Amino acid sequence: MATGHVQETEEFFAQGVSETDAFLRFCGIDPGSDGTVLEIGCGVGRMTRRLSELFGSVVAVDVSEEMLCRCRNNLSAHSNVVYQLVDGDGTLKGIGDDEVDVVFSYITFQHVPTRAAQLRYFEECARVLRVGGKLAVQIRSTAATAVALSWAGHLVHILQGRRTMNRAWRGSRIRPSAVAEYLRARGVTATVRPWPFHARWNPTQRWVAGTKQG
Ligand SMILES: C[S@@+](CC[C@H](N)C(=O)[O-])C[C@H]1O[C@@H](n2cnc3c(N)ncnc32)[C@H](O)[C@@H]1O
Repeated sequence: MATGHVQETEEFFAQGVSETDAFLRFCGIDPGSDGTVLEIGCGVGRMTRRLSELFGSVVAVDVSEEMLCRCRNNLSAHSNVVYQLVDGDGTLKGIGDDEVDVVFSYITFQHVPTRAAQLRYFEECARVLRVGGKLAVQIRSTAATAVALSWAGHLVHILQGRRTMNRAWRGSRIRPSAVAEYLRARGVTATVRPWPFHARWNPTQRWVAGTKQG
């Protein structure tokens, strides 16, 4: 993965703490519960570590075995995390219905290569959340300016010698309002929250936040 360049320093994990706290708050999720949080796309554990401090248990899923391995190493002192390798097609086979209190995901859906796989993830989120459970998933805006900014980003990556032009890196883009509508049809009262102030560097991001209804 292109995150291979990441230095897993204390500063990197401290950034994970402040971003996790801010995004949970932004999406109306109270941390500090003894519930279970599912993180889709845990990477090397930058935010997983904080989630494991805030919640009773964490299910950390990723499509990359290497990322899961690095995450496990980085969180060796955190015994309340389980790791699951997923196919990346949106299925969450290892997780039962109504088992999860919170679903959280950051800078991951933009790497999910197809619309079908992204929608499948949202369908699975609705399935695995318990009634009253909360969702906070970051996706990208589909506005022309957001698309242009992403391409500018690719250009910077290329100039830095990173290969980001493949399908998995570029991902697919679904209109955030369509995602919210899709979730509402599956019993999750989802709304789209725009670019939060604390993520000024990434104006293309949107958060889909919601609660599963009974
Ligand atoms: C940029 S990292 C973000 C990691 C973490 N959320 C953070 O903010 O530090 C994106 C992660 O998503 C994972 N990923 C990419 N496509 C995925 C898919 N289809 N399903 C699950 N995880 C995926 C990658 O392997 C990578 O670990």
